[in-house]
Amino acid sequence: MTQNRSSAVMQQRVEAHDSLDYFPTPPWATRALCERLMRLQPLTQLTCWEPACGEGHMVRPLAEYFHQVFASDVHDYSATFPAQDYEGDFLTCWDHPPHYMDRECGPDWIITNPPFNAAEEFVWTALRRAREGCAILVRTSFLEGKARHKSLFSKRPPSLILQFTERVPMFKGRLDRKGSSATSYCWLIWEQRPGLTGQLEWIAPCRDRLEQLSDYPTDQSEQAPVPLFDGTPHD
Ligand SMILES: C[S@@+](CC[C@H](N)C(=O)[O-])C[C@H]1O[C@@H](n2cnc3c(N)ncnc32)[C@H](O)[C@@H]1O
Repeated sequence: MTQNRSSAVMQQRVEAHDSLDYFPTPPWATRALCERLMRLQPLTQLTCWEPACGEGHMVRPLAEYFHQVFASDVHDYSATFPAQDYEGDFLTCWDHPPHYMDRECGPDWIITNPPFNAAEEFVWTALRRAREGCAILVRTSFLEGKARHKSLFSKRPPSLILQFTERVPMFKGRLDRKGSSATSYCWLIWEQRPGLTGQLEWIAPCRDRLEQLSDYPTDQSEQAPVPLFDGTPHD
């Protein structure tokens, strides 16, 4: 029996502990989050920090909704994402971003798709730094497990769990509009203010509506074909 493994990111994705775990997020998945957040509060006057920005595939859609978005990452992606504001480890650097140095003037929201190996630490760090709340994109399997229940969910359950009904295809180091995935993802949202606790909602199919061709690098098959070398020497 043959099985097509070429494009599917399997559930058992394993990353070395020192890996950057760079799996860029298709922008439509971030727009789906923002559409739901807008029902909690208007976003156009609020600030947002994307602290594991990679090449900015979340930053760009966040900027469509928020007043200001700050982008940092432990790795310097400025060669391919010049809008990266800062290079720093979100979990250990307290001196960034400069204008969010203390809780009093911290960002309203912290939103990211964190490295999977450090997702829980990202949640706790984001909760210490964000004024309004944080939203973290995780594999749905992040919700299970006795250890994480003890250390996180029993102490601080998310306000909202937004489960994607569509697959969100993610691949190491690249966006691929045509790729498929076997992994299920959800957004976990923690609001600072008391209110919702552990409310589960489904994100109705929205990819067709929220996806834009310009979200993706120009697909070679959609570019003008590169002329083949015909043997004629160049001048
Ligand atoms: C799953 S990727 C997501 C990238 C981006 N948020 C997106 O959704 O397109 C995880 C990102 O976390 C960054 N990263 C890993 N450890 C980090 C840390 N301690 N502090 C800040 N960024 C980190 C990696 O460089 C990588 O860009």
